[in-house]
Amino acid sequence: MRTKIVAGNWKMNKNLQESHNLTLDILSKLNANSATRVIIAPTFTNLHAVANQTKNTKVEVAAQNLHQADNGAFTGEISADMIKSVGVNIVILGHSERRAYFGETDELLTQKVNAALTNDLEIIFCFGEELKDRKSGKHFEVVENQLKNGIFHIEAAAWKSVVLAYEPVWAIGTGETASPEQAQEMHDFIRKTINRKYGKSVADSVSILYGGSVKPDNAKEIFSKPDVDGGLIGGASLKADDFLAIVDAV
Ligand code: 13P
Repeated sequence: MRTKIVAGNWKMNKNLQESHNLTLDILSKLNANSATRVIIAPTFTNLHAVANQTKNTKVEVAAQNLHQADNGAFTGEISADMIKSVGVNIVILGHSERRAYFGETDELLTQKVNAALTNDLEIIFCFGEELKDRKSGKHFEVVENQLKNGIFHIEAAAWKSVVLAYEPVWAIGTGETASPEQAQEMHDFIRKTINRKYGKSVADSVSILYGGSVKPDNAKEIFSKPDVDGGLIGGASLKADDFLAIVDAV
């Protein structure tokens, strides 16, 4: 059976004290026996502290980005090795906000994927179409190209370190979610696309998360679909009660 995962992407929210408090709140209320993997992704300045705070707990910590180089003259950037060195083993790559506001291309993402894998970081790889793509009926083509051009260069064995997150851009932070049927249809398409390139065992074992305005009141319906293996949560991950209600919905 595929691993169920709920990951909270805190984006550029929560200072050090606020991160500490939210983590504390999550740790104190989380059902430690749940089979669902629970991941939180604070901003870089809080990674070390939250990694320490969650050590030996059920909660795992992810970075929100990395720079593709090992080190060097890249002012303001953070390498995979730096992330590993603070006790973090997961990184989110390809988020639509990185693509849209920071110009991250598929080509750049291949390099970031390689840097993550070389440094034994697990990847939550994000992708998803814009509203104009869906309106013009190009959403499957766009998603297929994002996969082919961003991550289909990796070897089959590397997929054990990859989680996919389908996040339609029109559903992120807008309050508008994909319907459970739209999510299932796309997740099924994604799995079939992986199957064609890598075969059934890879396709059946990769967890595919849905992201985009998942809230406590819609999570259960979306997660009930057979190819939706959990969620990548933005706004609703910033309150422990909402986030944990979503974890419980899996
Ligand atoms: P929202 O849940 O706020 O729509 O954000 C989704 C997201 O971008 C998670 O990475």
